Amino acid sequence: MSRVIGVFSGKGGVGKTTTAVNLGVALTKLGKSVILIDSNVNTPNVSLHLGMNFTPFTIQDIMENVPYISQAMYIHESGLRVIPADFSLKDRHVDISELKNHVHKLAGDADYIIMDCAPGLGTDARAAIEACSEYLIVTNPELPAVADAYKAYKAIKIINGKVLGLVVNKVNNDNYELQSGEIEDFFNEKIIGIVPEDRNVRASIQNRMPVVMHKPNSKAAKAYRKLAMHIEGAKEKTFSDILLDFLSFDRKKMNKGTAL
Ligand SMILES: Nc1ncnc2c1ncn2[C@@H]1O[C@H](COP(=O)(O)OP(=O)(O)OP(=O)(O)O)[C@@H](O)[C@H]1O
Ligand SMILES: [Mg+2]
Repeated sequence: MSRVIGVFSGKGGVGKTTTAVNLGVALTKLGKSVILIDSNVNTPNVSLHLGMNFTPFTIQDIMENVPYISQAMYIHESGLRVIPADFSLKDRHVDISELKNHVHKLAGDADYIIMDCAPGLGTDARAAIEACSEYLIVTNPELPAVADAYKAYKAIKIINGKVLGLVVNKVNNDNYELQSGEIEDFFNEKIIGIVPEDRNVRASIQNRMPVVMHKPNSKAAKAYRKLAMHIEGAKEKTFSDILLDFLSFDRKKMNKGTAL
């Protein structure tokens, strides 16, 4: 069964798409098969973040008349599979209340289905809540973002949704920011990702590439990889892990040598 993880926020512009795209690519780089769906049909951005220009079918077509969701699936150069939304300037808002049924058809086709969701708590965000089985709440370390994220959180908890944790994005560590402990206390949930405000994120969007690919050694890229590893239950290798790997590899080689 695929894990269907929705990226929600309440407030717009806090970093949902940036998180969804980088998490998708980071999980792909961990060897997982991942499908990223853009369910933000009013103001879609996934294609822009990934530099995917030519996508004849999109999630809007699936909702309107194209029968198989896989017909709107494209493979990004990272290996991530993407179901984009039409970001053309013509009004392509469609009813996505059937999203859940379409997503179910993909169950088992990937380790992860990551869904980039609409801000707010309108019908699109609610349809996405229904379609997902696990939830990430993205916020910034400031009161309006946290207050709006809390509303999204409550809408998820009311259906007994499994919240994986909070992602605090655009962290500067200045005096005016809410502290991690304050945010965790407010939600009574754990922060599982802290992503610094990093100009490399804007540079990567300008280059139409996720920061984990464009600037893999940047602080933001490291934070997104750490989030992916947390979700996957993987552990970043320490220096001693690497040394042990090296020694055991060497020992295996030696053992092989004696056996022969
Ligand atoms: N960690 C970061 N450091 C610096 N800038 C960032 C970071 N994360 C996101 N941004 C900037 O914030 C902008 C908004 O991010 P993003 O599009 O991911 O937000 P969103 O929550 O998906 O917005 P919307 O609600 O409109 O869908 C991006 O254009 C990017 O430039
Ligand atoms: Mg977005």
